[in-house]
Amino acid sequence: AESRSRISVIGTGYLGATHAACMAELGFEVLGLDVDPTKIESLSAGRVPFYEPGLEEVLTRNLANGRLRFTSDYTEVAEFADVHFLCVGTPQRADSNAADLSYVEAAVDSLAPLLDHPSIIIGKSTVPVGTAERLAKRIAELAPAGADVELGWSPEFLREGFGVEDTLHPNRIVIGTDSPRVEAAMRRLCAPQLDEGIPFLVTDLATAELVKVSANAFLATKISFINAMAEVSEAAGADVIKLAEALSYDDRIGGKFLGPGLGFGGGCLPKDIRAFMARADELGVEPALSFLREVDAINQRRRARTVDIARGLIGGSFAGRTVGVLGAAFKPNSDDIRDSPALDVASTIASLGAVVTVYDPEALERAQREHPDLRYAHSMLEAARDAEVVLLLTEWAEFRDADPDELAKVVAEPRIVDGRNALDPQYWRSRGWTYRALGRP
Ligand code: UDX
Repeated sequence: AESRSRISVIGTGYLGATHAACMAELGFEVLGLDVDPTKIESLSAGRVPFYEPGLEEVLTRNLANGRLRFTSDYTEVAEFADVHFLCVGTPQRADSNAADLSYVEAAVDSLAPLLDHPSIIIGKSTVPVGTAERLAKRIAELAPAGADVELGWSPEFLREGFGVEDTLHPNRIVIGTDSPRVEAAMRRLCAPQLDEGIPFLVTDLATAELVKVSANAFLATKISFINAMAEVSEAAGADVIKLAEALSYDDRIGGKFLGPGLGFGGGCLPKDIRAFMARADELGVEPALSFLREVDAINQRRRARTVDIARGLIGGSFAGRTVGVLGAAFKPNSDDIRDSPALDVASTIASLGAVVTVYDPEALERAQREHPDLRYAHSMLEAARDAEVVLLLTEWAEFRDADPDELAKVVAEPRIVDGRNALDPQYWRSRGWTYRALGRP
């Protein structure tokens, strides 16, 4: 009976490390696996190798009480648990827009042959629709003869920066399966959430896979919608912030994900909509998702527009100019720089001949590694020093609360491009700043 509360988590990135720690927090015995020994070493020592508020406490508490351990040994994992969560990454392929499934496949190939007792694998990674069915066949081929191994798919909707909260209290749980045994296991493992009354939906495999990518496609569309309105507002002399507010009071529209600005980035939204389009193409329904190409294009245009506004402010050329950039992470409360709009803009400006100095409260180290074309500072004031224009590109609270007078003392010229509509234009202008934002007069 004891083994029934034991699970494993394969892959300990943002998703897996958070899932492993939270399942231990809920009382399950958890063994996390990663093929990367540095991740295992770090997590075992109680260090989260990325910035995620609150996760380190959950991690260290459950390492200490013995409910959570990490390993790189698949044999240990296969013996330890009878439910295995697949949490490995599915990045964009280098050669196309499709998802790279090699990590998912490698995990299944390593685990399945070792499963000699009745086991369940539950996929959580974001995958193209149809992947789970293919993996189920692969598992049937690879598992030892007579072994009873079943696959379910339960997409994960956690937001970086709110990973612990979103994992402990998700807004819904979806499990794709036609097996009563998988459904029962999932109900048992989600008992704390079911007690809270969180909706629990049982679907087929394909629908479960689709829920995730269509949710992300919807969110991306909503952001690009308001950014398209920002483009029109700029041309028409309207104010997209007021527009968004007015729209938000219609609760059929709602105000969330209606924030105009530099647009979306990160490890999920951009690659998920591209992989979704690629999959629709394969399925012969390319026109159904062709609007997502527009969503992507609108999003990219916001980056170009931000560069243009900044260039306009300093007289038309970046050559030899000094530029300060606030923000490197793709959003605040994260150190993730994957497809970061902020770094994309900073890099473009540097490639046009400016000296660009970047500050970010958490993402500096990662940015430094991947963008040697930029300079880095350890404070907001240092990044803004001698700048002829400052760009706010990730809306950290520290930047929202910036004192225009303090900043004015260090810059060469008080000019700011607010790429996230994070500042109060009237206030900044009253303090002598030339203030420009996206979608506002
Ligand atoms: C997203 C989904 O929200 C989550 O459910 C899924 O599991 C993974 O992908 P995440 O990538 O962590 O989560 O970031 P999110 O908070 O959704 O933000 C995505 C991007 O959209 C950020 O770059 C953010 O700056 C941008 N954004 C968000 C806007 O530009 N405007 C908004 O109104 C909201």
